[in-house]
Amino acid sequence: MDSTNAYAARHLKTLPDRQVIAAEIQHHGQGRTGRHWYSAKPGNVYASIVLKPSEIISPTFPIASISLYLSLCVCRLLDQYQVVSELKWPNDILVGNLKIGGILGQSYFSGDRMEGLVLGIGINLNLEEEDLQYIDQPATSLNLLLERPIPDSLFLSRLLEGFFSTYDEFINAGFPLIAGDFKKRCSFLGKKVMIRLPGTAFAATALGFDQEGRLIVRRSDDGREETVVAGDLIPDTART
Ligand code: BTN
Repeated sequence: MDSTNAYAARHLKTLPDRQVIAAEIQHHGQGRTGRHWYSAKPGNVYASIVLKPSEIISPTFPIASISLYLSLCVCRLLDQYQVVSELKWPNDILVGNLKIGGILGQSYFSGDRMEGLVLGIGINLNLEEEDLQYIDQPATSLNLLLERPIPDSLFLSRLLEGFFSTYDEFINAGFPLIAGDFKKRCSFLGKKVMIRLPGTAFAATALGFDQEGRLIVRRSDDGREETVVAGDLIPDTART
């Protein structure tokens, strides 16, 4: 298909809550901030989870942090493969500074009412070294790290099992449920970073997160604390 997220968005009205759509390959894999997601090879995770929380819970649904929860589930699963991964806010999954996976969360509203949420997951499980040149940032793949092929259906089912095993608890409690584990895996906390927002960027120190999982930073220019809702974080290793 073109993109599991695009498919889910097109069929949102008829797809049930917790439906998962997975593709072998995607012709137009979408990354965050309008980037392309390399999806030409089978054997990787290209999937979307459709969430349609009921009317009753949707006003309190932790919409800002659900994709952080999913990225943490990916890290926890990588632990089981003895691979140490890190999180780069908002939801990049890195191994040794190389990107192995990412989440694209898209929400759909009709007026004030949330019609649904689509959480797209892309994880490189079985790429060849030569595929990495087509990825627009330094990247890796689980098979290259472990030097063996990775059964992709098993990986995806374990990921979904982990995600849904504490999903209800998460949507009730929100980000505080995962804050401790999430922070432990964020190597940029306490360091100088660049925050890139649409049309602008600024240098700051990453301080922590608020109750919704939004990033709190101290701006380098005027020392003010600021909460970043959406954007990109660029580790600024030269300045730490
Ligand atoms: C990122 O930029 O880090 C997010 C990448 C998300 C890619 C996945 S692959 C499955 C789903 N369908 C898409 O088109 N994108 C997401």
